[in-house]
Parts: sequence; structure tokens; C-alpha cells
Amino acid sequence: MIRACVIGWPIEHSRSPLIHGHWLTTYRIDGSYGKTAVQPEAAADFLRSLSSNGLAGCNVTVPLKEIAFATAGRIEDSALAVKAANTIWLEDAVICAANTDTYGFMTHLELTAPGWQNSASPVAILGAGGAARAIAYGFQQAGVEEIVIFNRTRERAEALCQDLGKGLRTADWSKRANCADWACVVVNTTTIGMKGAGHLGLDFASARPDCVVADIVYVPLETSLLKDAHAHGLRTVDGLGMLLHQAVPGFERWFGVRPEVTPALRRVVLDDLGAQ
Ligand code: ATR
Repeated sequence: MIRACVIGWPIEHSRSPLIHGHWLTTYRIDGSYGKTAVQPEAAADFLRSLSSNGLAGCNVTVPLKEIAFATAGRIEDSALAVKAANTIWLEDAVICAANTDTYGFMTHLELTAPGWQNSASPVAILGAGGAARAIAYGFQQAGVEEIVIFNRTRERAEALCQDLGKGLRTADWSKRANCADWACVVVNTTTIGMKGAGHLGLDFASARPDCVVADIVYVPLETSLLKDAHAHGLRTVDGLGMLLHQAVPGFERWFGVRPEVTPALRRVVLDDLGAQ
């Protein structure tokens, strides 16, 4: 039996066991995927003991992603760009690390809003945490020439731009309201809107009609940002797709099958979210 798991501190809230469990059943794989609470002080040792604990690898969530990055012996570009890892596997006993958030976000964007890329137009990202880094890197890789980062704490946005370099610039948080007037994609990576709390304060009254509005918050699935964008006739991209798609590369690494993100999987996770 092949075993994998997700580690974090705390870990109770993680939907990863549900996602991977669904795929293990769907593809009739003799495997298991659990969740393990690991304190930050114990994370490096946990990762170094994967093999002796019978694990093929693991997902890593908050607040252990940076520790996983620092512990790995082989690091994919995806994780180097974000300076954090969420997917770990072993190759010749070497701990290998990737960050699949970029893949998850860009894949879902492409599937939900094909043709989002308007070559000459900038992308606006709200927030400058780990998710913003992964997403900014994705747009950079996709060839977007101008990526504007709005963040409440300006220095954090500047550090992100400094690290990723090409095409990135910061803008003042107070200037975010009309970013849909000029951006081909607007992405919220902040926690504003989670469980209905707070309002981002964007104004879509004079938005470009082809602007795509994405949110990485998925509780509720339709955040007030997405509801507002939708009411103005804009295309929207929800946060659940990123969560589902980011799980694909890890599952393939550990269990040897590239799984599909299907409406049935979405339903399973949505039902669980509804139960919260
Ligand atoms: P992650 O790594 O998951 O992206 P994070 O590092 O906690 O999460 O980042 C959360 C983001 O939400 C940050 O950009 C944060 O802004 P600061 O860098 O200024 O902290 C943003 N954020 C959270 N609450 C906010 C609020 N009330 N107003 C504006 N931005 C907020």
C-alpha cells in the first residue's frame, strides 16, 4: 500500500484527505492519505523520516511551507519562486519539493475563463502573501508583461516584486478601487471576504467588459467580490478550483495516476464545506 498525508499545525481544517481519498477510491488504488498535525519544531525531522515512516511523500500546509522548502534537497522552480513548498516526495532518498499553487490557480483560470490573456493588459493582484507569490509567478510564466501588486503593507508587496522581478510593480493599497478598469484579470489573494467578513472595496461600474475577476477565497464559494463582479457582467473564477487542481501533481507523484478534477469531486468538497 502507498501512503501519503498532509501535515500542518493545526491540520483539522484540511480538505486534502477528502480530495485524495476521492481519487484513491475512483482509481481503485491501494493507497491511503491521512492528515498529521506536526508542530513547526518537528517538521524538518518529520520530512527526513518520511521513508522510515512508510510515506511516499506529503502535502504541507500553513505554517510549515517555508520549513519544507528549507529542508528539501531538490527544489523545483515553482517552489523557488514562492520560497515555500506544498508538495514533497522522495527521489533516491532525496527530499524533493514543489509548489503546486501556481499550477492550481493557472489551470483553473485557463479552464474557467479561456482567453483571459489580453497580451497588452496588466494583471492586478490584491495581497502579497504566499498565494500572491505563487499566482504572480504564474502570470509571469504565462508572459504577462505587467503585474501590479496592491497590498495593505506596502513593504511586503515590494519584497515580492523584488524577488520575482520581471514585469512586477507595486501600487498603493488605497488605489485599488478601479483596477478592473485597466486589468485583464483581477485576483484577490487576501483573506478579505472569507466567511463573509470584510469587503475589498472594488468598484466595477466602469470595469473593462472583458475583465476576469478571480478570488482564492472559497468559503463562501461566491464571495461578495465575485457576486459583485458577476452582477456587472464580468467573468468570474472561484477559489475552489485552485484547491482542487493544486492537488493533482502530488497525487500523480505518489500514486502514479494523473487524477482528474471532475464535477463529482467538486461536489464532494462543496458538500463538506456546506457541512461546516
Ligand atoms: P497566504 O500566504 O495564504 O497568501 P498570508 O501570508 O496570511 O496568506 O497573506 C494574507 C494577505 O491578506 C496579506 O496580503 C495581508 O496583507 P498584509 O500583508 O498587509 O498583512 C492581506 N490581508 C489580510 N487581512 C487584511 C485586511 N483586513 N485588509 C487588507 N489586507 C488584508
